[in-house]
Amino acid sequence: MRYAISYVSTASKDLQENEIQRILYSSEDQNNKDNITGLLLFSEGNFFQVIEGRKEDVTELYRKIENDRRHHNIIKLFQKPIHNESFDGYKSDFISEDAKYNSARLNNYEKYIEVLDEPLQRAVSNILKAFII
Ligand SMILES: Cc1cc2nc3c(=O)[nH]c(=O)nc-3n(C[C@H](O)[C@H](O)[C@H](O)COP(=O)(O)O)c2cc1C
Repeated sequence: MRYAISYVSTASKDLQENEIQRILYSSEDQNNKDNITGLLLFSEGNFFQVIEGRKEDVTELYRKIENDRRHHNIIKLFQKPIHNESFDGYKSDFISEDAKYNSARLNNYEKYIEVLDEPLQRAVSNILKAFII
């Protein structure tokens, strides 16, 4: 079964920008290897992430992320089975701070959440807007 989990969190106060970049890039690398899709966005001290993939993989990854001391105040937004069949063409994408105020990129990011149910897509899209614009 495919599964998606999403949360927001606060980056640790002592986390340097290069350490944040490392989280973004290494997560993208690892997720592509593990067939996990989704988004990881960092903006103004907060992370927003959607991970989607095999249920076992996603729940195990979330457990690791939850215990990661580089962030805290983790608020889970949703945790849901995914019913859409087509996953091809989706991949992990990561939005860093420099994407802010670049609303043209929003459409591009939205394609990574097309796998979610329609109401959830809208909710996630609104969160994305709040982060980006
Ligand atoms: C905000 C945040 C998001 C993360 N997202 C991912 C992710 O999507 N994929 C991933 O493999 N690791 C991610 N990590 C790193 C994991 O918490 C963990 O350090 C990594 O999976 C290595 O764990 P391991 O050494 O037990 O395999 C994230 C960490 C943070 C702080």
